[in-house]
Amino acid sequence: MDLVIRNATLPDGKSGIDIGIEGARIAALQPGLQARGAREIDAEGDLVSPPFVDAHFHMDAVLSYGLPRVNRSGTLLEGIAVWGELKPQLSQEALVERALRYCDWAVARGLLAIRTHVDICDDRLLAVEALLEVRRRVAPYLDLQLVAFPQDGLLRSPGAFGNLRRAIAMGVDVVGGIPHFERTMAQGAESVRLLCEFAAEKGLRVDMHCDETDDPMSRHIETLAFETQRLGLQGRVAGSHLTSMHSMDNYYASKLLPLIAESGVAAIANPLINITLQGRHDSYPKRRGMTRVPELLAAGVDVAFGHDCVLDPWYGMGSGDMLEVAHMGLHVAQMTGLDAMHQCFLAVTQTPARILGLDGYGIEPGCHADLVILDAGSTVEAIRLRAARRMVLRRGQVVAQAPRSNASLQLPGRPDNVNFRIAPQATHSR
Ligand code: FE2
Repeated sequence: MDLVIRNATLPDGKSGIDIGIEGARIAALQPGLQARGAREIDAEGDLVSPPFVDAHFHMDAVLSYGLPRVNRSGTLLEGIAVWGELKPQLSQEALVERALRYCDWAVARGLLAIRTHVDICDDRLLAVEALLEVRRRVAPYLDLQLVAFPQDGLLRSPGAFGNLRRAIAMGVDVVGGIPHFERTMAQGAESVRLLCEFAAEKGLRVDMHCDETDDPMSRHIETLAFETQRLGLQGRVAGSHLTSMHSMDNYYASKLLPLIAESGVAAIANPLINITLQGRHDSYPKRRGMTRVPELLAAGVDVAFGHDCVLDPWYGMGSGDMLEVAHMGLHVAQMTGLDAMHQCFLAVTQTPARILGLDGYGIEPGCHADLVILDAGSTVEAIRLRAARRMVLRRGQVVAQAPRSNASLQLPGRPDNVNFRIAPQATHSR
């Protein structure tokens, strides 16, 4: 073996596992592996997971916070306005530089696959060109999937559909949309139909910003599920945000949830952004705005948590930490049962990997040797501590390392350091 990682705890709770790696792939996974490695790493019983995956991001806007001005109201619509002011000033070099810088952060956080929406409403397609260049440059260490996103509306923005077709022809991977931003409900539904038909014709995946509003009557997810089924796109379509579902009438939701499940449409919630952008027109009580995550999961729908924004016109926080995303999702969805907390970890790893269609993802023989050793004993503890990424491996090579999150104490009669960990058996969900 080229590398053996000894004494790992896996996300499913199995402990004392040795992981043998040959070249870029996992070759063996068992307790007490006899084979020796040219290099050996002792995981010391820590959690070893496949890498984090972000199913929903905006890399063309990342790290642009304050350019050209700060979003004062903090609303989604002012964010779109600020982004509109910034667009004419964007340069390809600055965009590439900011994106590469963010990818450095991502790798350090064990985040090795990102689906990013890229705004195609600028006729120059400058952001598309920049992110295609970034995708090429980061490919050895990070899988970047691009979504052609008509931010200003497919039908509302002149030329948007033409730009979207050009972006796909240039190599953008996924068809995006924003039906709730079109001029009318009917135009929103029309945009969903047109985009799904285009994706079916081209054999592409679909991921739409869908119903990112507090308006319970915003029901484009219904059309998205219908078109997915009509066109045979099951398993290739995701509805991002779906925040209107938070405010929907329970009777309608009880009809909608099985329709989504039946259509094979996945849901992507963005807890950090939903909790900050939704409910802005409420006084008190204020709605949380995140979609119905436990109910979608119970209906059998794949649900991932995305980061959406880091330091951009919509959000002045974030550092590429998908455990922070899972932590917020867990709280906002009140997913506090042990199994539910574990599902929040899957929502930033395994589930988004399936939604993106990542090949060779996982922790089994034959999978890519892409692994993260966390300063935690279980998935739940990883979320609780937003655990340090002790080591990040890509294709069998170490690409990032960080120390454990310990602190020293100077207290008479007390231990001389703390690590915030508890016994592993208390935090395994199964
Ligand atoms: Fe988004």
